[in-house]
Amino acid sequence: MTTPSGGHAENKGANVENGGGRGGDERVPVGVVGTGGMGGMHAMCLHRKVAGAKVVAVSDVDAERAGKVAGDCGGAVVFGDAVEMIRDESVEAVVIASPDPTHAGLVLECLRIGKPVMCEKPLATSPGEALGIVEAEVDLGRRLVQVGFMRRYDPQHVDVKRTVDSGHIGRPVLFKGWHRNQRIPPGTDSEGVIVNSGIHDLDSARWMLGEEIEEVFVRGLNTSGSSGGELDLQLIQLSFSGNCLGIIEVNVDAGFGYEVGVEVVGERGTAYTAPPTGAIVRLQNSYAQNVETDWLERFETAYTVELQNWIESIYRGRPGGPDAWDGYASLVAAEACIASIRSGRPEAVATPERPALYAGEATGVAG
Ligand SMILES: NC(=O)c1ccc[n+]([C@@H]2O[C@H](COP(=O)([O-])OP(=O)(O)OC[C@H]3O[C@@H](n4cnc5c(N)ncnc54)[C@H](O)[C@@H]3O)[C@@H](O)[C@H]2O)c1
Repeated sequence: MTTPSGGHAENKGANVENGGGRGGDERVPVGVVGTGGMGGMHAMCLHRKVAGAKVVAVSDVDAERAGKVAGDCGGAVVFGDAVEMIRDESVEAVVIASPDPTHAGLVLECLRIGKPVMCEKPLATSPGEALGIVEAEVDLGRRLVQVGFMRRYDPQHVDVKRTVDSGHIGRPVLFKGWHRNQRIPPGTDSEGVIVNSGIHDLDSARWMLGEEIEEVFVRGLNTSGSSGGELDLQLIQLSFSGNCLGIIEVNVDAGFGYEVGVEVVGERGTAYTAPPTGAIVRLQNSYAQNVETDWLERFETAYTVELQNWIESIYRGRPGGPDAWDGYASLVAAEACIASIRSGRPEAVATPERPALYAGEATGVAG
């Protein structure tokens, strides 16, 4: 059997083995929970761009939105209830793109019935919830969860990661990350800035360096002058297990557009993501280049590669990419960041030992 993009599959994978009723159609039947910005994009991406997948079901509490996405995907079945959709026998793999507080319960339901799941970040809203998922997988004895840390599939990030791993720049001594959003979503508090946005950067740092975060110290500012006083600009200082330092800027109300990048400074050199592509225009004594509006635009390629890799991992029956442990470890670091905001001091990140189930390829370069 070949994988959807032409590679050789070693075995058929859990869901393929379980998947009676597909007849001659080898495509993996996927159900998508949440059909908003991310879920709608994932559904369309699976339908139009990803080889070896078909969207057979969608679920949303907003029936009109779900109906529109279902129609655009060639007539997927609409479910009002996500658990009902996950349990339906027509669905063999699940994408979760509903709001953060729904993630943990829906992932656990997928594990309970043995269906592969690609869950948007964060895996859960607390380390305790995420640990429950890790423990469920360890009990199961196999990994079924991939977390939507799509930067691991972004060509620019992957280039930096390969350079770091090649040893060309020497041992990493400093990680720098910057993450700027145009506008803070209404209702976001200082903790939400970490758990919903900064979580990407915490994962990126762990992945780039292949090390766990040991300590964090967060300082923040309310730049918008909002009455809530939320810290929309946060600087996270980090130290890592391998005697390396880090600094992450999370600025969720930057005003000018969306920008994400990383730099890894090594003992002999440095590697960083390239600036945005697109024409540079010199006009009226200025020098200008477009800045992307949001993540959907900036990471369009990464989302496609992420889903293609996920589908291929299902064919192979061998999960890859960011796993439940990565989802958990990033939340442990996020919790320490929140503690640091409250205490005004550096806080230790108490990540337990990684279970054997998560050793190896899952934290390497994706794809
Ligand atoms: N990886 C990334 O780059 C990235 C970017 C943005 C958002 N996200 C994550 O994706 C998820 C969705 O974010 P979004 O921006 O698409 O939000 P959104 O508000 O645009 O969409 C969420 C959708 O889920 C639906 N929904 C709510 N409760 C539901 C339930 N119980 N069952 C089924 N559907 C339900 C809503 O009606 C809505 O249509 C969040 O977890 C968010 O953190 C990831």
